[in-house]
Formats: sequence, structure tokens, C-alpha cells
Amino acid sequence: MRRLYYIIVISYMKLAILRWEKRNNFITENMSILEQKDRLIIDYFKLHWVEVFHVFLEDFNKEKKTFRKTYTLTQGYLWETNLSLKPDYIFNMITNSHEWIFDTLKDTNVSCSARVARIANNKYNTYWYFSSIQPSSQLLADFLQKNTLWNYNDEYIVKPIYWSKWSWVRKIKGTLLKEQASELGDYWSILLVQEFIDTSWWYPNIASWVHDVRIYCIGQKMVSSIVRKPEDLSEFRACIHLWGHATLFRVAELPDDLLHHWLDVISILKPKKTDFFCIDFAYCQKRNDWILIEINSVPWFRLEWEESIFDSKVLKWIHWALSKHL
Ligand SMILES: Nc1ncnc2c1ncn2[C@@H]1O[C@H](COP(=O)(O)OP(=O)(O)O)[C@@H](O)[C@H]1O
Ligand SMILES: [Mg+2]
Repeated sequence: MRRLYYIIVISYMKLAILRWEKRNNFITENMSILEQKDRLIIDYFKLHWVEVFHVFLEDFNKEKKTFRKTYTLTQGYLWETNLSLKPDYIFNMITNSHEWIFDTLKDTNVSCSARVARIANNKYNTYWYFSSIQPSSQLLADFLQKNTLWNYNDEYIVKPIYWSKWSWVRKIKGTLLKEQASELGDYWSILLVQEFIDTSWWYPNIASWVHDVRIYCIGQKMVSSIVRKPEDLSEFRACIHLWGHATLFRVAELPDDLLHHWLDVISILKPKKTDFFCIDFAYCQKRNDWILIEINSVPWFRLEWEESIFDSKVLKWIHWALSKHL
């Protein structure tokens, strides 16, 4: 669990002592997907003479804005170093929006900034900002008192308001959900009941089956996008973690109806220029529209098979934004 509470710090000091080592730490197949992402960030910035460390929030001194200790990631482990550091930029990896985190990291260059993190990290919050383009949603507690989501014979999506694990996103019939209500008593106020959006219809050039389109953004810039699909045809979730696959999609080719929604989201979200996040949409034939699935303020990413670390657009634009705006 502790791992959820680290943050990656980018020190924007140009480190003269750093030499470009020959790939002895490079991505390997058997690395966990979370480690792959960290490794990519570390290696990419190393190419640009910027060193990236892991740190834990409990080591942060609020007055001095300095971390007492830092950690380096080597062969799957975080090794403590004696180096204390004032970071130039912080990738906050904490997905639960606690007020103390926003307070602690106030006045630092942190991604994502408080506004984006608050809206994105709590799916119920996201819904209130974007209800017109999201699946209709109610907290389980409200749903059980007064179901405004149609018929109990329908299937619903139930998911925790905070990211917990993709396996917690379930599809369940309304009647069954009612039967399970007492067992779920402890979770009434943190489970969201959502209209099930059928994403299994085609959209020209984008999808022919269950999918979602993830748009990576830095600030108000759309930097890369992927179309995700599950491998298993009976699966409704388009998560890579569920052994799905992703293909790169050129942002210039995203359809206009999707771009409109993306712009609406950005104009409400008001991201800072160095906020790195992603917005996931899926096309629903029944609504004949793109639906906002979620905003993710701690986006996971990897190299897709056709990419090398040198042409990763996500990394390139993060680096660009930091060099320009820090
Ligand atoms: N209301 C919904 N209707 C249909 N599919 C959904 C719905 N909500 C989520 N999904 C599918 O499940 C996946 C995971 O849900 P998401 O809300 O993104 O949770 P997580 O935070 O675990 O990624 C999404 O990528 C999407 O494919
Ligand atoms: Mg998701």
C-alpha cells in the first residue's frame, strides 16, 4: 500500500555528475506496468540531463519545500539515498484527494494542480462537473433510496468513487444490486451506480468493438491518444490491465464531435500549463455521442509497440512543457 503514497519528483537541476549510461536499467517485459511507466519517465529525462527521484510525502518539509530523503528506482526496488532535495516539479501519484495533500503541496509545481486533481480523482465530483456528457450516476446510498436511473432490470455499472482497482468496476443487474444492498452497507457512500454505456458499436476508423479513446494532455494541449480495447470479447472494460491492447491514434485524426467534448472538458477543468492528465471517452451508439468515462490525474502510460522512447509523444511534450513553463 505504501507505494500508492510515493510521488515522483523531478529535480530540474541539470546534473553534471550524471552520465548517460548504456541502458542497463531499461524496460523489460517482466517489469510491472507501473514500474514501466516510472522507468520511462526516469530514462527519458535522464536523456535530457534531468534526474528523477521517488519521494514520500512524509519526508516533505513544508516550510523549506524540501524532501528529507529521496529514493532511486533500481531493479524494481526503491533504494534510499542520503540526498535531500528541493524539487522543481512533482508528479503526484496519490489518487485519493485528501485536503492535507493539497495543503502540503501548495506553492510547489505539482501535477496535477489542486483543481484538476479534485475534479478528476473523485468520480462523483467529476460527474457533477460533466453530468451532461457522462453516464447518469448516483451514489449507491441515493440509488437505494430513490432510483433515478430507470429500470431495476437494467444492468448498471458500480464503481468506487476513488480509483481503487479496475477489478472493482463491475456490471450488475439493478435487482441483484438491491439484493446485495445490505452486504454493501459499509460502501453506500463511496460506490457510484452508473448507467451502463454500450461501447461495443463501431465508430468509423476508430472502433469496431468495446473501446475507449484516451487523450493524454499537458495543460491545454492534446499530446497523444490511444484507442484501448479488451482482448476478451465478453469484457466491457477497455482496460489494458485486463489484458486488452492499445493502439496509437493520431490526435489530428480525432473526430470533430469528440474534439468538441474534449474542448468543453478542458475549458471547465482549467488545467495549469504543466498539469499532465488524460481524458477517456467512448462512443455510444444509443446516444449517438461520445461519453466521458473518466479524467485521470495520474495517467499510466507505456510505449506502444510501434514507439521507441525517443519518439514517445507523451514524454516529449511533458519535457517540452516543463522546459517552457517552469
Ligand atoms: N458507465 C460505464 N459504461 C460502460 N463501460 C464503462 C462505464 N464505466 C466504466 N466503463 C469501462 O470500464 C473501464 C474502467 O472504468 P473507469 O471508470 O475508467 O475505472 P478505473 O478508474 O478503474 O480506470 C473504462 O475504461 C470503460 O471501458
Ligand atoms: Mg479508467
